[in-house]
Amino acid sequence: MNRQQLSQQIIDTCLEMTRLGLNQGTAGNVSVRFDNGMLITPTGIPYDKLTPDHIVYVTHDGFFEEGKLPSSEWHFHLTCYQTREDVNAVVHNHAINCAAVSILNKPIPAIHYMVAASGATEIPCVPYATFGSHELAEYVKEGMANSKAILLQHHGLIAGEANLEKALWLAHEVEVLADLYLKTMAITPDVPVLDDAEMQKVLGKFKSYGLRVEQ
Ligand code: 13P
Repeated sequence: MNRQQLSQQIIDTCLEMTRLGLNQGTAGNVSVRFDNGMLITPTGIPYDKLTPDHIVYVTHDGFFEEGKLPSSEWHFHLTCYQTREDVNAVVHNHAINCAAVSILNKPIPAIHYMVAASGATEIPCVPYATFGSHELAEYVKEGMANSKAILLQHHGLIAGEANLEKALWLAHEVEVLADLYLKTMAITPDVPVLDDAEMQKVLGKFKSYGLRVEQ
């Protein structure tokens, strides 16, 4: 896909993210790996005002085009691509249930087999650091090394996948898991989880399971 097409796909992903109730206003950001760097949403522009010309190219070493300002979170987007070869698209949002679990500073444990969609047995919550900081990108690096989806303490969610549709799919699934976790925690603090042997079995099945959309 060329830059124009990928830029339009980024915008479509942002609009769909809001439509699905995963985000609001100018919160969140979306990127896709491109030409040894990435294409990413600009900072602070409402998604419904975006045109492909607003999307910013950032090189692998963090340079961007004159006259354009990438998302304030460009550091951690770049870090995701540097950390995982299997990730070509990254979605970040402040989805309500994910943000709520992140405020409690808890990982989402193996409460449901779909946790394995992250490629891990639990969805970690990485420590708080100021938005847009190198420190936050360092925490993201550690979290993404183990899981394609992570919670950011007092902030929200990052999901990385092979393409934009899969990244958004994963973000949506994790929001459902966060909702389930909060609902079950409201009934008991000791929420039952699947054991490690079962999760390893499910992780094996996920190598050939998940959203079947290739781009
Ligand atoms: P940007 O508009 O700079 O992408 O910021 C939104 C956000 O969610 C920061 O974490």
